[in-house]
Amino acid sequence: MSATVDLVIRDALLVTPEASRHGAVAVDDGRIVAIGRSEAMPSARRVIEAGGRPLIPGALDVHTHVREPGFSHKETWATATAAAAVGGVTTIFDMPNTDPPTANAAAVREKIAIAGPQAHVDFGVYGYVGEANLADLQPMAEAGASAFKLFLGSDNPLVPCPNDGAVLDALALIRETGLRCTVHAENTPILNWRGAQMKAAGRDDLAAHLAQHADIATVEAVQRIALFAEWTGCKIHIAHENCRHALPVIAAAKRRGVAITAETCPHYLLLSMDDAERAGGNALRVKPPVREAGHAEALWAALLDGTIDMISTDHAPHPVEEKHRASIWETSPGFPGVETSMRLMLTEVAAGRLTLQHYVRLACEAPARAFGLWPRKGALLVGTDADLVLLDLDHRETIRGATFQSKGKVTPFEGRETQGRAAMTFLRGTCVAQDGQVIAPPGTGRSLQPP
Ligand code: NCD
Ligand code: ZN
Ligand code: ZN
Repeated sequence: MSATVDLVIRDALLVTPEASRHGAVAVDDGRIVAIGRSEAMPSARRVIEAGGRPLIPGALDVHTHVREPGFSHKETWATATAAAAVGGVTTIFDMPNTDPPTANAAAVREKIAIAGPQAHVDFGVYGYVGEANLADLQPMAEAGASAFKLFLGSDNPLVPCPNDGAVLDALALIRETGLRCTVHAENTPILNWRGAQMKAAGRDDLAAHLAQHADIATVEAVQRIALFAEWTGCKIHIAHENCRHALPVIAAAKRRGVAITAETCPHYLLLSMDDAERAGGNALRVKPPVREAGHAEALWAALLDGTIDMISTDHAPHPVEEKHRASIWETSPGFPGVETSMRLMLTEVAAGRLTLQHYVRLACEAPARAFGLWPRKGALLVGTDADLVLLDLDHRETIRGATFQSKGKVTPFEGRETQGRAAMTFLRGTCVAQDGQVIAPPGTGRSLQPP
């Protein structure tokens, strides 16, 4: 350990799920090469004095809609990954509802080729699961897909929901790839039926969207997919959990040994229908919906007891005009999130709602473990990728969509005060963002699974 290394970050509070201790990290060639006392570190070409501030692993977001190819007016790989970098997120998994959808090996390769030159953070891509592409699942895994995405309850014609027979076959095939299948779990016929009822009644408000997405629609779909996972042995992951009634179903599946993990998002933890006006009215539309007051409290309890494993963002940017429409049915669902998630969650840490160590488990370690990337990602260990975030826990700022790196400028958190942020984001030892600005060139990010 006498040779000079690339980087040493000294006098930091090294935070992992298990412990917080003062020390330093040495980085060479993109990896952590030493962890210990500041005085014990090798000489380095760059030394950063952390001044006692916390250093955590880069966060992972396993639920990001980057939009390219096909929807570059909503977001590009450059803008989505810039948003991630300033938000302290060093790995994203991109959803397959692009145009063309990521539904075969060629589309996986094409997406990786589009993303690579633009990326500011590392990325994985999801392969779509449909009735027509069962024979493409294994080839997508071989082409570099990091996981699969199953839409149950989607009305997006680009990524139609497969019937239950096809779902069962798909899970059996995905099991053979060893990859995990993330599921948007809502019951399609209930959504279609209720949506038609609402429209026939002339309803076009945010509450009608909530009524369409009845609690039972997600409870049933989570129950069914957990059973299918148990039957086939496929690893599944419940996307954007938002409903308190689905939590006992997930907990019960875990108790009987089903390979099931679950995520929730800051908007489900921090907002309810009571906030609709402040959050922009129809602009709060997201699938699945932010529900009535009371669900968030149950989601927090589920985070604390381990029923929900991790935080994701469901970063789903749309142009401003698509978020401000008179009819809820014409309002595009979703909003950007990858840029604000860490700030919002650190604000809850400051408020004493969870510990920083617990946040590191939810945002870094758990997603890395569930998706086969730990300890390369999501860990502070010698030999792992030096994806690191130096935190400023005192930084106070008001969320303003207009300042986002993302092309999506409409956020339900507009005007919200946050405390704490990523002061410096390092990707494999390179500082990619500092104080809210991107400072490394596009192309610094890499595909997690080069074909
Ligand atoms: C997502 C999108 O816009 O792609 N929208 C959303 O409301 N979450 C789709 C999805 O995640 O189901
Ligand atoms: Zn979804
Ligand atoms: Zn989504």
